[in-house]
Amino acid sequence: MSDHLIGLLLGAEQDWPRAFEEILRKVGPISTGETTHTVSSERLTIEPFRLDDPVRTELVIDRLAYWYYHPREWLKKASLVNGTYLLNSPFTFQSMEKHSAYCALVRMGFKVPPTTLVPYKNPVDNVRWAYTAERYNQPFDLDAIADELGYPLYMKPFDGGGWRGVSRVNDRDDLHRSYDESGEMLMHLQATVDYDHFARALSIGPETMVVDFRPDQPMHQRYAVNHGFLGESAGRQAVAISRIVNAFFRWEFNSAEMLVVGDDVYPIDYANACPDVAVTSLHYYFPWAITALVRWTTFCVVTGRRAEVDLETSRYFAIADDADMTYDDKVAAYLALADEHFETDRYWEWCAEHLPHLEEAVLEWVSGDDFDRLLRDTVAATYPPHEHEQFLAHFRGLIGLWVADQGRTTS
Ligand SMILES: Nc1ncnc2c1ncn2[C@@H]1O[C@H](COP(=O)(O)OP(=O)(O)OP(=O)(O)O)[C@@H](O)[C@H]1O
Ligand SMILES: [Mg+2]
Repeated sequence: MSDHLIGLLLGAEQDWPRAFEEILRKVGPISTGETTHTVSSERLTIEPFRLDDPVRTELVIDRLAYWYYHPREWLKKASLVNGTYLLNSPFTFQSMEKHSAYCALVRMGFKVPPTTLVPYKNPVDNVRWAYTAERYNQPFDLDAIADELGYPLYMKPFDGGGWRGVSRVNDRDDLHRSYDESGEMLMHLQATVDYDHFARALSIGPETMVVDFRPDQPMHQRYAVNHGFLGESAGRQAVAISRIVNAFFRWEFNSAEMLVVGDDVYPIDYANACPDVAVTSLHYYFPWAITALVRWTTFCVVTGRRAEVDLETSRYFAIADDADMTYDDKVAAYLALADEHFETDRYWEWCAEHLPHLEEAVLEWVSGDDFDRLLRDTVAATYPPHEHEQFLAHFRGLIGLWVADQGRTTS
């Protein structure tokens, strides 16, 4: 008998943890050879810890450490001292922000839109600044940089998230206003991609869902239910980019944003330590996301998968440097490395052998009263009372559509 414990490190979310706990209960005991495994979860609390304390959880799903640093440091201790498996790696999420992710994909030959990093607008708070600036800061021509990228362009922080500090710059006046306002934020200027589709891919371990995203819509309408909205080639690239970024940085639960023009896929944002998985955002895709989270974490703890802190960047860069390979060859080769990292084939075989009942059990649960209660509670907690009915109907409709679609694909 082997009991495995998954820790949930949570912020303010209630909906997906409830769903995760419920679906995890449906996993049931798993027999592998001589051993019977059980998997359960626990919500973690925050307290002082000794660096050599034992850690009870074999794996932690972290939704907190990107803004609350005490548990982030605990995660690092758990990883380095106790071998705890983490979704996600706090090491690379702390050190590799949007900017590093751009750089990695530039190095691998992906179509990152032309992007320039400019020095701070305002002096940083450091007594050595005046001396350094006078001696070493080169004057630069902001207008010339913008002219080269062309208008409109985007100005956004090197480590952005949640639209903080992002502006669309239409002309020189906008440019100077936005740069003046950037203050002590370090800014990228980026060429605009005039896109046909905005593809948002959520990856959990080796599972990836690419969704037609509408960034200009209110939250509950951003994920459109629109299957096959990308052509075959663009769809393949979108899946590959999302999974390659994750394997490269050792991220396991992340969303990637890509702008798609015909068959060209331009990645613009793919370092989201805490991707949105609220039922009120994902709706139709919510049962898939939480099932994937349960499947992948169960696979990791039961098979004893080890997390590596170190990266293998040279393997990716060897492909990048191969002059005989085309862009498509390289994407396929990077994806093969990513799938090797995530044990993708073994994972799906393992799920078929050990979790054959799970999808049916999730479908039954999502169709029932218990899930409807979760939806009602979440709507009540998210929207003002006069909007409850409207939103409940909206989400019930989308969940109902998912349930109906499952019936169609399984029958
Ligand atoms: N190069 C670009 N071309 C066209 N649109 C862009 C470009 N860069 C950013 N945008 C638009 O600006 C939005 C915000 O940019 P970005 O995703 O880089 O910032 P963010 O702070 O991470 O925002 P979010 O948290 O909403 O993803 C994008 O969702 C997209 O609509
Ligand atoms: Mg973004």
